[in-house]
Amino acid sequence: MKTQITEMFGIQHPIIQGGMHYVGFAELAAAVSNAGGLGILTALTQRSPQALANEIRRCREMTDKPIGVNLTFLPTVSSPDYPGYIQAIIEGGVKAVETAGNNPQKYLPSLHAAGIKVIHKCTSVRHALKAEAIGCDAVSVDGFECGGHPGEDDIPNFILLPRAADELKIPFVASGGMADGRSLVAALALGAQGINMGTRFIATQEAPVHDHVKQAIVAASELDTRLVMRPLRNTERVLRNDAVDRLLEKERALGANLQFEDIMDEVAGVYPRIMQQGEMEAGAWSCGMVAGLIHDVPTVKALIDRIMAEAEGIIRQRLMSIL
Ligand SMILES: Cc1cc2nc3c(=O)[nH]c(=O)nc-3n(C[C@H](O)[C@H](O)[C@H](O)COP(=O)(O)O)c2cc1C
Repeated sequence: MKTQITEMFGIQHPIIQGGMHYVGFAELAAAVSNAGGLGILTALTQRSPQALANEIRRCREMTDKPIGVNLTFLPTVSSPDYPGYIQAIIEGGVKAVETAGNNPQKYLPSLHAAGIKVIHKCTSVRHALKAEAIGCDAVSVDGFECGGHPGEDDIPNFILLPRAADELKIPFVASGGMADGRSLVAALALGAQGINMGTRFIATQEAPVHDHVKQAIVAASELDTRLVMRPLRNTERVLRNDAVDRLLEKERALGANLQFEDIMDEVAGVYPRIMQQGEMEAGAWSCGMVAGLIHDVPTVKALIDRIMAEAEGIIRQRLMSIL
């Protein structure tokens, strides 16, 4: 399958693995890239630009295919050294950067000067148009169903993707709720040039997270996610657990008085405990509604091959036979 996204990033299949905190390490990114997609390391999971440089080098030892790095500009407890991370990306020879969370404009000149393509993750058409206007090369359009931060507009992909297709000139991938060949064909039909997956890639053999996390995703249905931090306008879709119930109870009790400090125990610094130690009740962790479509833990290559075979089958047989 050849699309503007496969051409732009020099990849075989139009499938991107979105940046994921404490998941997007070299093992997963390399597996996705080796399977013909675009694997993405998560910069902020690395404590320093030097650590990111090491991780890029480690990933390079596992694949000679294109890889990307995610740079997330979200309200974080500490203030990351973004220029330092960008320098590590440029010096590491990475040619794709996924930005998210806030406007990446001030970093675009240095990224573009290094020949890096920038795909910005957006949850609304207006943000996607802004990304296009400031010179991003592509966007990743994240619908309301996505794991992580869906924004505050709550527009699901069946509306958001065709709206984006109507307005954008630059190519975009569909993100949020993507799991299989059906997702890919639907995304292409709605105007996207490929798909971005988060949750689906966690439930793979190579994802370097505790098996409890993979099994929690397999066990979950589409009814099992919750939205937290809505009162702070920093909404995150997470898998329901005891910590999330506690957090939501605090949100209800404190109403408009809620401060980030009130929910620190449930959200700050919990990722290593969940992803690496498998402490599934340690706090809130991002997970998409797409968990309802995930029933196994295949290798990344088996997953990507299956998606491509299923998508081709749908296009060649089911869709052609209808005409
Ligand atoms: C556990 C987890 C952690 C994530 N961390 C980040 C992150 O640090 N930065 C970011 O831009 N997106 C992050 N995301 C969002 C994903 O990159 C992707 O956009 C999203 O998962 C797509 O929705 P899906 O889960 O339905 O596939 C995360 C998602 C998950 C599930």
